[in-house]
Amino acid sequence: MVEIKNVVIVGASGSLGEPITKALIDSGKFNVTVIKRPSSKASFPASVKVVPADTTSVESVTAAFQGQDAVVSAVGTEGLQGQNVLIDAAIAAGVKRFLPSEFGSDLANPKVAAFPIFGYKIATQKYLQEAIAAKPGLTYTYVVNGPFLDWGLHRGFLLDTKEGKPKIYDDGKTVFSATTLASVGQAVIGALSHYEETKNRFVYVRDIDISQKRLLEIAQKVAPEKKWEPVSVNTADIEKSSNEAVARGEFTAPVLVGYLFRGIFGEGYGNKWEKDDNALLGITGKTEADVEAILKDVLAGGK
Ligand SMILES: NC(=O)c1ccc[n+]([C@@H]2O[C@H](COP(=O)([O-])OP(=O)(O)OC[C@H]3O[C@@H](n4cnc5c(N)ncnc54)[C@H](OP(=O)(O)O)[C@@H]3O)[C@@H](O)[C@H]2O)c1
Repeated sequence: MVEIKNVVIVGASGSLGEPITKALIDSGKFNVTVIKRPSSKASFPASVKVVPADTTSVESVTAAFQGQDAVVSAVGTEGLQGQNVLIDAAIAAGVKRFLPSEFGSDLANPKVAAFPIFGYKIATQKYLQEAIAAKPGLTYTYVVNGPFLDWGLHRGFLLDTKEGKPKIYDDGKTVFSATTLASVGQAVIGALSHYEETKNRFVYVRDIDISQKRLLEIAQKVAPEKKWEPVSVNTADIEKSSNEAVARGEFTAPVLVGYLFRGIFGEGYGNKWEKDDNALLGITGKTEADVEAILKDVLAGGK
């Protein structure tokens, strides 16, 4: 039986990398190391081992990955393209499990995978699978968690509560699966603790299935004194406009994010998981009362 004990995280200072690192440390199950790029200004908890490495160099990263059982990549948009270096280094260092920076939409769904925003993630999956086929030893897990529930509410991505004029996509009726950052951290622990069951596959987690309509109702309950003037937006129109921009060669953040809105709030993109791995990975889920608590914090100005 393969046991994952030594875990290294790349992108540990990011919005997701931080809670994943915290969850791994708090579990007490792993020896946790983080990679720090020469350019990084990040600081890390004292309980974590920090190893410097140039993430553009296979040699440098291979040296940093020595003795590691698993690599968790939580690199942000900027780092997605460079994950092949991490894969080559993981193979060279004899790492057993690689979790690429997925942590969102279900890229097993061909309609979602075709969105240009996921180009680098799909290319990474392909590279990883081909590398493993050529030289078995490393394995992978793709964590699919849908939009981050707490992060998405705090950032106004799932429901913009700031001005009281949230954009409601396609009447807000689409139910989608969403997961808090802490539960994504738990999913990583679960995947690393169940080597065989999570080997070379997508794992699906969620805290709750909810719609924008319901999120708005809960927000209105939390802040009834606020003037709520939702604005209707059509995700087919957004996709059309993003497609036109991409055809003109415009790969800007707003253009690409348009595909996320289509994939999360548009009907027919497998937005709500048919089944999940919550029980296997130790995710207990959240209730609408938990969502209400998050929205209370958001509306009170919490970060
Ligand atoms: N499901 C959702 O709702 C959702 C929302 C947001 C993100 N995500 C996904 O979560 C993952 C992480 O995103 P994030 O928003 O947490 O990222 P982020 O906050 O932008 O964090 C970026 C992290 O990546 C590191 N990094 C940046 N460029 C790098 C490079 N070239 N090589 C190596 N490391 C690099 C940074 O380290 P330094 O300290 O060295 O700069 C930092 O730790 C991504 O896959 C993203 O698509 C999902």
